[in-house]
Amino acid sequence: MKYGYFDDKNREYVITNPKTPVKWINYAGTLAFGGIVDHTGGALICRGDPALNRITKYIPQIPSSEFKGETVYLRFKQGQGYRVFSPFFVPTLAPYDLYECHVGLGYTRIVSQFCGIRTEVTIFVPLGGSQEIRDIRITNVSDRSLEIDAIPLVEYTHPDALKQLTNADWVPQTMQGKVYRDQDGLAILTQYAFMNKDTQVNYFTSNQPVSSFESDRRQFLGDNEYGTWAHPLSLERDELSNYQALRGDNIGALLHRVGVIRPGETVRLITQLGQAESVAQAMPSIQGYRDPAEVGRALEELPAFWDRYLSVLQVETPDAAMNSLVNVHNPRQCYITPNWSRYLSLYQLGYGARGIGFRDSSQDVMGALAGAPQEAMTLLRKLLQVHKRNGCAMHQFNPLTMEANEGDSSEVEGAPKYYSDDHLWIALAVTAYLKETGDLVFLDEAIPHYEKDGGGRPLESGTVLDHLRRAIKFTWRDAGAHGLALLGFSDWNDTVNLGAGAESLFTANLFGKALLEMIELTQHLGDEESLARYTEYYETMKQRGNEHGWDSEWYVRYFDADGTPLGSSANTHGQIYANGQSWPVISGFAQPERATAALEAVRQRLNTCNGIKLSTPGYDGFDPIKGGITTYPPGAKENGGIFLHANPWVIIAETMLGNGDRAYEYYRQINPVAKNDRIDEYECEPYVFPQNILGDEHPQFGLARNSWLTGTASWAYQAATHFILGLRPMYEGLLIDPCIPSRWDGFKATRQFRGAVYQIEVVNPHHICKGVTSVKVDGQEIAGNKVPVFGDGKTHHVEITMGKMGL
Ligand code: NOJ
Repeated sequence: MKYGYFDDKNREYVITNPKTPVKWINYAGTLAFGGIVDHTGGALICRGDPALNRITKYIPQIPSSEFKGETVYLRFKQGQGYRVFSPFFVPTLAPYDLYECHVGLGYTRIVSQFCGIRTEVTIFVPLGGSQEIRDIRITNVSDRSLEIDAIPLVEYTHPDALKQLTNADWVPQTMQGKVYRDQDGLAILTQYAFMNKDTQVNYFTSNQPVSSFESDRRQFLGDNEYGTWAHPLSLERDELSNYQALRGDNIGALLHRVGVIRPGETVRLITQLGQAESVAQAMPSIQGYRDPAEVGRALEELPAFWDRYLSVLQVETPDAAMNSLVNVHNPRQCYITPNWSRYLSLYQLGYGARGIGFRDSSQDVMGALAGAPQEAMTLLRKLLQVHKRNGCAMHQFNPLTMEANEGDSSEVEGAPKYYSDDHLWIALAVTAYLKETGDLVFLDEAIPHYEKDGGGRPLESGTVLDHLRRAIKFTWRDAGAHGLALLGFSDWNDTVNLGAGAESLFTANLFGKALLEMIELTQHLGDEESLARYTEYYETMKQRGNEHGWDSEWYVRYFDADGTPLGSSANTHGQIYANGQSWPVISGFAQPERATAALEAVRQRLNTCNGIKLSTPGYDGFDPIKGGITTYPPGAKENGGIFLHANPWVIIAETMLGNGDRAYEYYRQINPVAKNDRIDEYECEPYVFPQNILGDEHPQFGLARNSWLTGTASWAYQAATHFILGLRPMYEGLLIDPCIPSRWDGFKATRQFRGAVYQIEVVNPHHICKGVTSVKVDGQEIAGNKVPVFGDGKTHHVEITMGKMGL
């Protein structure tokens, strides 16, 4: 079964069957104002903070047939009553003649045809805007005139999203709605929680006269809510009640008597859902977007924005699914993840105080910084502000208030209150930013550490370089019985919490990779002393990792506090972990034979046709000592599931060993674009990576969940572009070191890098995976495969010939 197709020309995925296995979504706007729009027109919109300033009520757990957040009803007279349907299919579920949801870059367009009426609704948030716009075009495609009413509708939540779910007295007592008519007689229906009435007002309005409105759900559904969203009783009457809610479950419904539409005729209605301090403050922008020309202009700005962002890299490889992913869908997801972190999706529901994760965002930044360097730097600055003086980091923070916390570790008595990996990711992120932009001045910028005095003033500041040094120093000192990095509360794998004294081979290797970056940086800066120190740390940790971490066929993953290994052949469950093998290669700690053996063990024991499992065999019962990992059945999530975030690390490791065929096979098997024909097994959107797929120990092997907000996006993009295609920014230039499938004849790429355009053509006449024998820049042979920085605003032609020396 297929639910849609990729329209690469228009950079859209088009859903043609609304009954997808789960809701598929798109993002509109940003965390400043925006949210998710599902493929049946539902929307979860918030402003600034999904936990504390949520606007629409969208509860993903209720059935897909129900209306969530927003919808539109259309109706026309039929006999004595009305024929009512929603052009979004949900919630009326009427039979349709056409249904298309175009998932575009920054917009969603739903085109449908019911009862001879074609409707096209474009949903978006203008760049930098604080309103969601729905541009609704209704066309009569029947052969008779129809008298149409249009009733767009929004259901509100209390701004405190969790309170909405936990307090059914305080919440409805505070919710109110009020209508305003502006000088043109157009209606603005406002809604607010009483305490916010003078500061934070939601508004719902349109650019056409409203003949009546409703602000109370009970009145709209009718019969004490025994009317339903599929069949609201108020729509059987000519007009809505014009009730201004003083309490209760607030909605906004605006009844427009659109009038008679002749065959072939189209009418247009534009709605706005926004938030402002007051209606008066919002008026200029409300009036602006009532003008269809202004809406058209705002919509046109979206492709211009995405063109700029995506034009940093465009590729042409022999694999159409890879092209689609690398050129559009993966970089789009890479833009979404640093923005929304793990705040708001259909799986990460943004309740409570989770905020932005230090580890997650540091990795997300790396996927977006080529296209959005300014935004990347802004986020890096924020991350560094929650870096502690001792060098480790606060685990999570609210990006608006900059209040941080220690994540789940604070809830476990006696557990270490830091995560051993968090602060090391920032060294990778900052150095990636420097290599992309060349902006070394950033290293000298002073940024305060997290700790404050009684007056809220930072106790200490340091330059960005100093922050990186402290991060390294923390892990160097934080060593356990084998001299390996202590685990802290956990490392990247949140679900293994072994208590104080446990050691993590993952963190030891991440430390190694961070040191490689620091070594390269200090070399570039000419800082001999630091170079010598970091080289010594590196060699020491490498020696310890190899002395204690090798388990005869692969590397172990942890030592618990009493020295027992996990991820060892001696264990019954969790014998081998993917990250235990990929990271010693990425860090360069593994000598060639061990690197090969470790990756072979991944292939033999962890690889499946749906991706590489995180570990195997899964634990098959709850064990409070091992913690969260054992809460999942075998094959799910971290417990033997295909935790996709870890797959690109194996791909990167394979390219480092020159195994382009294998790296590509692993990439191809997780490419969501290639899942389009197998969606009934996979279920999630084929245009983004999910976080997890059930592994082969689970009866529902192949089922994906937790799409969109995952570190998979950033790492899959890095794996494809930096390692398979091999286009790697370095301090002194753009390294071109492909590791591709041997059957490829080559590929082309256009890469913008530090103020010039590199038009790259790679040819592979000997059908090898890795190796470059000739590099020509603008027709001239250069030594090596690092193409210099030009910064001259011009286009340079780079011809790469692959081959082994002597071939
Ligand atoms: C999801 C969390 O957001 C991320 O920080 C963690 O690394 C992975 N789970 C793996 O446990």
